[in-house]
Amino acid sequence: MRRTLGGFVLFSWAVVTFSASACVNAPRKAYTPSEARTLRRIDEVMRIHAEQMEPLFDVETRTAFDDATFVQMETAATMIGEGTAIAMQGDPVAQPYPTQFVDYAKDLQAHARSLGQAAEKKDGASAQAEIAVIHHICRACHAELRAPRP
Ligand code: HEC
Repeated sequence: MRRTLGGFVLFSWAVVTFSASACVNAPRKAYTPSEARTLRRIDEVMRIHAEQMEPLFDVETRTAFDDATFVQMETAATMIGEGTAIAMQGDPVAQPYPTQFVDYAKDLQAHARSLGQAAEKKDGASAQAEIAVIHHICRACHAELRAPRP
């Protein structure tokens, strides 16, 4: 499974590098999940979330998924589950926030990992359900903790 994921990650670097310049709020570079895990700034973490997940949120209303979409799901799942969601569970990212912040980050990590497993099996219905939950977690944390800025 590791080797398969490695292939997906490599693929995602190419995609991210190619598309980054088109997006105003793109991350500063194409991070690997292990680099993303050590990020210290929440705004950069969130730019990665937007870059990885926003193209997938329309999956919530789709009924069929091609292989490229499953690859995209695995890439996003690895970047979040093995990268950004871990960065969010430690300081300095979590430091200014109340304890619920880390609870949301753990929840995000768990569902990102489930998304990765569903996508690897090409289980569209489960992947779709996980993406809907992830979307809900993004919105719930923003509603509770994003504004006013601490
Ligand atoms: C644990 C809480 C939490 C979760 C989960 C979370 N966010 Fe955020 N997000 C925040 C906070 C807090 C900010 C404001 C950061 C700041 O002060 O710059 C933010 C800001 C953002 C921004 C604006 C970034 C910028 O350029 O300044 C985007 C885009 C974003 N989040 C997307 C997402 C997406 C997509 C998800 C889900 C995959 C997500 N976030 C999950 C807490 C969260």
